[in-house]
Amino acid sequence: NGTAVGPSMAPPPGTSQRMPHSIIIGVRKGGTRALLEMLDIHPSVAAAATEVHFFDWDENYARGFDWYRGLMPYSYPHQITVEKTPGYFTSALAPERICAMNASIKLLLILRDPAERVVSDYTQVYFNRLEARKPVRPIEELLVRGGALNTRYKAIQRSLYHLHMRNWLRHFPLEQIHLVDGDTLVRDPLPELRRVERFLELPPRIAASNFYFNQTKGFYCIRSDGRERCLHESKGRPHPPVNGTVLRQLRAYFRPHNRSFYKLVGRTFHWL
Ligand code: A3P
Repeated sequence: NGTAVGPSMAPPPGTSQRMPHSIIIGVRKGGTRALLEMLDIHPSVAAAATEVHFFDWDENYARGFDWYRGLMPYSYPHQITVEKTPGYFTSALAPERICAMNASIKLLLILRDPAERVVSDYTQVYFNRLEARKPVRPIEELLVRGGALNTRYKAIQRSLYHLHMRNWLRHFPLEQIHLVDGDTLVRDPLPELRRVERFLELPPRIAASNFYFNQTKGFYCIRSDGRERCLHESKGRPHPPVNGTVLRQLRAYFRPHNRSFYKLVGRTFHWL
């Protein structure tokens, strides 16, 4: 609902660019784009068009808050501004920087099964490299080093949710970070969005009629303002098959980490 205004266009009267009231901080491949696009159905939400990377990239942070505000959509006073940058969740500095901007900001974190997330992360990098005509390797070569699980693989590190979450909880109370179940959002988006509306103190405006299941894509797509649209083809791509033994090793590795996360946030997810 936010209005993107080109350099030669005047912004709609009564609108302005404002700092975000809420940020989707991650996790990368958790369903962050789906969450933002679905939230943007709400008439009181203005979503930033691109990933901003303000708090996680030093060169952007050095440009200052006016630069950051300049990337926000034009919005009406009754609207809230939301930006999403999945890199924030695993950034060492993002939590304290965001807290310094606005200690009472509402944060949204969408998570999915950590092992699935690793494969999704790999798949994204795989396709990016293919497009850039760079060499690609099978996932098992990245997951395994010298016969053991390569726990230094970045995609695995990013799925250690409790480690990153601890860093956020040093700066924000748990109640200020709303967890969205990404696996549920895929199967049945509305209940998750209702919870997000409540968390953001928005009146319930997103409805079942805003979603329809697209058989070809195999995902829910969005119907809003008389238009129907699915997410970009890079969202919801088939994953490569992973060697069963390696996958079991990966899941076994995550199990204690997942339990630490459940304990930390006082909530259980049904990750395998
Ligand atoms: P896969 O591409 O691995 O299936 P992000 O936007 O954070 O990169 O997350 C991408 C993930 O969003 C996709 O991962 C997909 O599972 C998930 N997703 C959730 N709802 C979706 C939807 N309605 N359409 C497409 N992808 C969706």
